[in-house]
Amino acid sequence: MRFAQRMSRITTAASFDMLARGKALEAQGRSIIHLGIGEPDFDTPRFIRQAADDALEAGFTHYGPAAGLPELREAIARAWSQRRAIPCSAENVIVTPGAKPILFFSMLALLEPGDEVIIPSPAFPTYASVAAFLDARVVSTPLDPSRGFDLDLAALAARITPRTRMIVLNSPHNPTGAVLSDATLDAVRELAIQHDLVVLSDEIYGSMVYDLPYRSIASLPGMAERTVVVDGFSKTYAMTGWRLGFGIMPAALAKHIATLMNNSNSCTATFVQKAGIAALAGPQTEVAAMIAEFHARRDLVVSGLSQIPGVECYTPSGAFYAWPDIRATGFAASELADRLLDEAGVVTLPGTGFGAEGEGYLRLSYANSQDNLREGLARIGEFLAQNGTA
Ligand SMILES: Cc1ncc(COP(=O)(O)O)c(C=O)c1O
Repeated sequence: MRFAQRMSRITTAASFDMLARGKALEAQGRSIIHLGIGEPDFDTPRFIRQAADDALEAGFTHYGPAAGLPELREAIARAWSQRRAIPCSAENVIVTPGAKPILFFSMLALLEPGDEVIIPSPAFPTYASVAAFLDARVVSTPLDPSRGFDLDLAALAARITPRTRMIVLNSPHNPTGAVLSDATLDAVRELAIQHDLVVLSDEIYGSMVYDLPYRSIASLPGMAERTVVVDGFSKTYAMTGWRLGFGIMPAALAKHIATLMNNSNSCTATFVQKAGIAALAGPQTEVAAMIAEFHARRDLVVSGLSQIPGVECYTPSGAFYAWPDIRATGFAASELADRLLDEAGVVTLPGTGFGAEGEGYLRLSYANSQDNLREGLARIGEFLAQNGTA
């Protein structure tokens, strides 16, 4: 079989490979601590599961509109106008099976071959993979470790050319956990307006912020009309497996994304959307408890990592990732991640899975119990005491 040339330009994320290797070792009887996978370890709240059961019983087993059920689009628009101060109504909202289709479809609808897309590095690998797949030009711009992995604004401005079409933002950030500062959002807004750029703002971790209130770039004056907000239920409501996400975007773009949905998935599962309506309308106490727990785990992991000789870890303000700097251990990122898995039984991800700027870092997900986090930190500390150069 002969494959289309474009298939050589699309990639898959390394996190699933490391998870599979960890599971294979577990199947052989090894004790493995999983700090690799990026999904909440909590169950979806019961009232949301019950709403899906009720919807199945009530006959929500058929096709629905490609753009999403009108009542869910309205509920999302209401909630995001209130929670994030994003000016929007139902016509701006498209519901998809998870957040990833919004990334894929908005790039598909907006990018011509040769258009330039500025992507901060390190980054969630899907952005560059999809842009390259569409024959757009990926332009990496560094995050600044000395400013808590905020954007280097001078570097960003220097990368804008007449071919630049889109800037990708992701805050809170995967893999570093960083939250972009207000000053950065204001500066990106100015650049986007001045150069007529689209901002693709991935806010999937927007409810997981620990030190400050969250601010969406789409809430700033003049930005709703040039921003695609990527969001969903996966992380906030511990619903990764349900596949329920959405985008908030200008109405004209929303029509195109609905057409892409019509031609690909047809629609998002209707009983799942009913569960989404319940999630937004119901008590947010479990979400608040989950976020408080992530906050406590963040403090545990950052202080634990910082006590390991050769490891330095800044305090991320959001998401559930720590991004320790391991350069002083003498290991390259992928060798350390491999050996921690094989010899210490701890799954981590090498920073290089998130771009070249990830060399010298690991990504640890703290979506695991505090007991397991303590055990994982102890194993990493012991391994480095025996094998590291620090
Ligand atoms: C930054 C970021 N964006 C998007 C996604 C995808 O979300 P979903 O599972 O809803 O498609 C993830 C999942 O890990 C993510 O980390």
